[in-house]
Amino acid sequence: MKTEIYRKESLKQAAKQLQQEEVVAFPTETVYGLGAIASSQKAVERVYQAKGRPSDNPLIIHVSSVKQVIDSVVDFPEIAQKLVDAFWPGPLTIILHPKEQLFAPAVSAGLSTASFRMPNHPLTLELIDYVGEPIVGPSANKSTRPSPTSAQHVLDDLDGLISGVVDGGATSVGVESTVLDLTSQYGPVILRPGVITKEEIEAVIGKIVDKDDLTVSESEKPKAPGMKYRHYSPVKPVVSITFDKALWLKEITQLRAKGKKVALMANDELIEEFKELASATYSLGTPHDISMMNRLLFDGLRVLDKSDSDIILAEASPKVGQGLAYMNRLEKAAISSIQ
Ligand code: TXA
Ligand code: MG
Repeated sequence: MKTEIYRKESLKQAAKQLQQEEVVAFPTETVYGLGAIASSQKAVERVYQAKGRPSDNPLIIHVSSVKQVIDSVVDFPEIAQKLVDAFWPGPLTIILHPKEQLFAPAVSAGLSTASFRMPNHPLTLELIDYVGEPIVGPSANKSTRPSPTSAQHVLDDLDGLISGVVDGGATSVGVESTVLDLTSQYGPVILRPGVITKEEIEAVIGKIVDKDDLTVSESEKPKAPGMKYRHYSPVKPVVSITFDKALWLKEITQLRAKGKKVALMANDELIEEFKELASATYSLGTPHDISMMNRLLFDGLRVLDKSDSDIILAEASPKVGQGLAYMNRLEKAAISSIQ
């Protein structure tokens, strides 16, 4: 299959492919998504197949209007309205109870709930408008690979396996949306951290729960099925290290003594200090810029994975605010962490 590249001028053709139950990747502000019309079982199954995704991992439904969600759910609670007023279009996904038989069964993968998000990208909002109905959009990577933050990343994983990709440039946020379950008995629960933080959500709807903070047994905790799988992994091993020069020096020295070629993904200060000892480097920007770290994390893993090195040392961030989103991804990609 030839994978077409679509741009603003050819968006209508991309929409046509989607209407014909084909799979087309699209840009968002977070990461690229793998699109297919959410009402078609055939189209949605093609998404799972292209990604190599386990069939028990549900997909996010992407909309271009709040009305598309209201029309699709049994109940649209007041807190949902407050959240979409505050954060949409944007990197927040909300989980609600869908009306029966609107979406292909594969979308919810056996769950009684469905997740919705309005991405903040002009091309994709226009694309969904042209399609005329919501589209699913898991991250457009092969399962277990780092999420794609450019059209080229999508092609690196899926060229020849999907009908097309809409090229909207590099994504700005870089990590996937915050997933908030509004159907849980415990009240609103964050299932996956993103750049919209717990504190920001609480400022809009009051106290919420982070699934990791729930004091109930593991088996009772609400889950995002996708979070249990291996994730974000380059082929080379990744080790996460706190921003502490002594720790970096010790680790680099030990690895080099074993004959290992070391790649560094870190802030400019660390890179400046250790670049002579490294076989490859990738800058995450000036120190403590967590937005930049999130934006560049997946690109850095992909770039260094192609470098001539044996191991990737990646800078850790404090687990606060947007750092929670960053560390959630880095810890899933890494084999170990040094702090
Ligand atoms: O930013 C994003 O959310 C990106 C862009 C493309 O929009 N999409 C994305 O999709 O990250 P995906 O499929 O890679 O991750 C969706 C996550 C998975 O962990 C999945 O298990 C969870 O959301 N999820 C989806 N629907 C759910 C549901 N009904 N209940 C619980 N978890 C759900
Ligand atoms: Mg994903």
